[in-house]
Amino acid sequence: MDGGIDDALALVLGLRSPEIEVIGITSVSGNVPVRQATVNALRVVELVGRPEVWVAKGAARPLARDPIRAYEFHGRDGLGDSHLPMPQQDPFSKTALKAMNETLSSAKRREVTIICTGPLTNLASLLTHFPESKNRIEEIIVMGGAYGITQYGVGNETPVAEFNIYSDPEAAKLVFGAKVPLKTVGLDVTTIPQLELERSDYARIRKEKGKFAAFAARTLKKNMRLHGRFTLHDPMAVASAIWPALYEFSSYRVCVESRGEYTTGMTIADRRSWLSEDKLSGDPVMVCSHVGARFKRLFLERVTAA
Ligand code: BDR
Ligand code: CA
Repeated sequence: MDGGIDDALALVLGLRSPEIEVIGITSVSGNVPVRQATVNALRVVELVGRPEVWVAKGAARPLARDPIRAYEFHGRDGLGDSHLPMPQQDPFSKTALKAMNETLSSAKRREVTIICTGPLTNLASLLTHFPESKNRIEEIIVMGGAYGITQYGVGNETPVAEFNIYSDPEAAKLVFGAKVPLKTVGLDVTTIPQLELERSDYARIRKEKGKFAAFAARTLKKNMRLHGRFTLHDPMAVASAIWPALYEFSSYRVCVESRGEYTTGMTIADRRSWLSEDKLSGDPVMVCSHVGARFKRLFLERVTAA
């Protein structure tokens, strides 16, 4: 995760959901520098009171280019300039790469799901340096991409590219081509207006008692004041592992553009339904095409309950 507001809310959701077991978290350069992303993950782990969940510091920069940041949206601290106290807990003593590799080495075949809510740099490094770890992964779930399969599937960082993929397209290319089962939850669904937080949702959060609602209210405050709405990109990706019945995925072949003049970071789904499978371009990906409207209520209940 890359330390943004929706990363933090996604982590609160994951850590408070008995349907999944969170083993560890890796931070990565993205919305904010990796050091800040690590601090923000530790803040959430402390908030939820789960000191056994390790937070390992990951890559400080993308594989082959300079990092881009999202300070304007997530604030200088990544958490909406909420100026929360610094965490007491230290990051894990091992690097993200080592921590992930060791966890997977001691796992059974196809036992672990990896959910990525930031640029794919850490995961790409793992798959390159420890290719044998692949068979321990059940599936990879990526918040990322814009596939043009709903009317909302256009870019946010550029006209055609989504932030996480655009940040490190070389890493995304590697992960998409790794031949590990891959699901993506992209802008096609995360930006469906009915699934975004609105002022009325924010008012509800503010009325709720307890430290979790207070955390959400504080980190969302600036964005709600400025924009009146907030998109739940990363929580929607995590929730696909918690409430899979709410999700529909369609199978596409997808290419990641890494050398375009205008299209770097674009995730190109081959939508030519008239072609046979062997004539399509790209790697097989399950792309999220629908999320049930119940997602927002379930998310709010789980994340803000005292
Ligand atoms: C993604 O970009 C980041 O700003 C968010 O945290 C999310 O992971 C959405 O494009
Ligand atoms: Ca993120």
